[in-house]
Amino acid sequence: MPTLSPPPVYSRKNPFPARLLVNQKLNLEGSEKETRHYEFSLAGSGLQYEVGDSMGVFPQNNPHLVQEILDVLHFSGDEQVKNKEGETFSMREGLLKHFQITQPSKQFLEAIVEKSHDANKLSELLQPERKSELDRFLWGLEVIDFLLDQPAVQFTPDEFVSKLRKLQPRLYSVGSSIKAYPEQVHFIIANVRYESHGRKREGVASIYLAERVPQNTPIPMFVHVAKGFRLPENPATPIIMVGPGTGVAPFRAYLQERKAIGASGRNWLFFGEQRSRCDFFYQDEFATMQRDGVLTRFDTAFSRDQAYKIYVQQRLLEHSKEVYAWLQEGAHFFVCGDEARMAKDVDAALHRIVEQEGAMSPEAAAEYVEGLKKEKRYKRDVY
Ligand SMILES: Cc1cc2nc3c(=O)[nH]c(=O)nc-3n(C[C@H](O)[C@H](O)[C@H](O)COP(=O)(O)OP(=O)(O)OC[C@H]3O[C@@H](n4cnc5c(N)ncnc54)[C@H](O)[C@@H]3O)c2cc1C
Ligand SMILES: NC(=O)c1ccc[n+]([C@@H]2O[C@H](COP(=O)([O-])OP(=O)(O)OC[C@H]3O[C@@H](n4cnc5c(N)ncnc54)[C@H](OP(=O)(O)O)[C@@H]3O)[C@@H](O)[C@H]2O)c1
Repeated sequence: MPTLSPPPVYSRKNPFPARLLVNQKLNLEGSEKETRHYEFSLAGSGLQYEVGDSMGVFPQNNPHLVQEILDVLHFSGDEQVKNKEGETFSMREGLLKHFQITQPSKQFLEAIVEKSHDANKLSELLQPERKSELDRFLWGLEVIDFLLDQPAVQFTPDEFVSKLRKLQPRLYSVGSSIKAYPEQVHFIIANVRYESHGRKREGVASIYLAERVPQNTPIPMFVHVAKGFRLPENPATPIIMVGPGTGVAPFRAYLQERKAIGASGRNWLFFGEQRSRCDFFYQDEFATMQRDGVLTRFDTAFSRDQAYKIYVQQRLLEHSKEVYAWLQEGAHFFVCGDEARMAKDVDAALHRIVEQEGAMSPEAAAEYVEGLKKEKRYKRDVY
């Protein structure tokens, strides 16, 4: 009898090459943003994610940036180099796939100081006690800026790559349910672009996926389990979901899942973007979910439809009575998206709602919110 080999187990160390099926811009004409919808095939992988999980995606660097680095260092790209794990590849392949060539490592900065005679400012900022000043100085600066600024600084091929960090996978929230889309995973990804120090910059993974992956190309990825961001075990439990921008991704997945399993729990979604006319992602899907009775309540906050900003937390506050009533009935409260601003403000709004509607002191409201966290009813996935 022929022996059957066990199916491969895919993981971060052994990622599954998932073929790109769909790459579609979500914003319409007139938008200031570029957010895209992706669908990948997981056929044959056996990968089983759950809604609330993320996937780690391995990107590649921009070949133009790779060429620029090769040119300034006078490398041909054919030099053989090694990574820390001892794998060998050409310098060009290494810079494309294996090393982080945008944000510089401390070792790279130290090498620049050591090899140049006029990097005094950088040398001072590398003192441990000046870490926050260094971070401010580095904001918007990349490896190429230091190389162009110090053209006399040269490296041997091995020395150069030894100063670079490993290129890391990027995490993306799963935006679909396997029950609705068997053997697929969907993502909602915002393109990262900005200008700094006179150069146009781009996010490694978001722009790689948006612009340099032809259809059907396999992209290595793995499931990143997020046990702390799961739907309530009881399908009858109500949920409140706050997901502006790409933060809506896991909630699209939750709604698909709850529809597929016929969950009886009520679902309330708060979505926000810049303009209703061109940034209202999945408008039709959410309308269908409302008609089907899956999306019980749906509130939107379009920040730039009027002269003043309206954000999701304002909508929460406008409905504070009902939000508090849902919480009192055992609802789970989910937040996903921007960590630095949105998640902080939504947290403050939640405290205000509890204070106001529960007639509590700020301290008692803080305790109530802490209680929600302890009971795993206040869950956040923010970045
Ligand atoms: C659990 C989790 C889930 C996530 N889910 C999603 C998701 O569903 N959708 C999504 O779009 N993203 C999501 N992200 C974020 C995602 O992982 C990436 O961080 C994001 O796509 C940017 O990656 P990038 O490679 O394109 O950019 P990078 O190459 O990583 O560039 C980003 C870096 O560029 C620099 N930078 C950015 N803007 C500026 C500026 N204006 N000036 C100067 N420097 C700047 C900063 O150093 C920043 O860290 C998630 C993150 C986590 C942790
Ligand atoms: N860590 C990382 O590497 C990384 C990478 C990419 C993105 N991010 C973060 O993730 C976010 C993702 O961007 P996105 O495209 O999904 O959407 P976003 O930038 O969060 O924008 C979505 C909506 O939220 C609004 N908003 C802005 N500030 C807010 C606040 N304080 N409270 C509530 N809403 C607020 C925006 O309004 P206005 O635009 O009109 O103000 C917009 O209407 C970015 O803001 C970025 O900070 C982080």
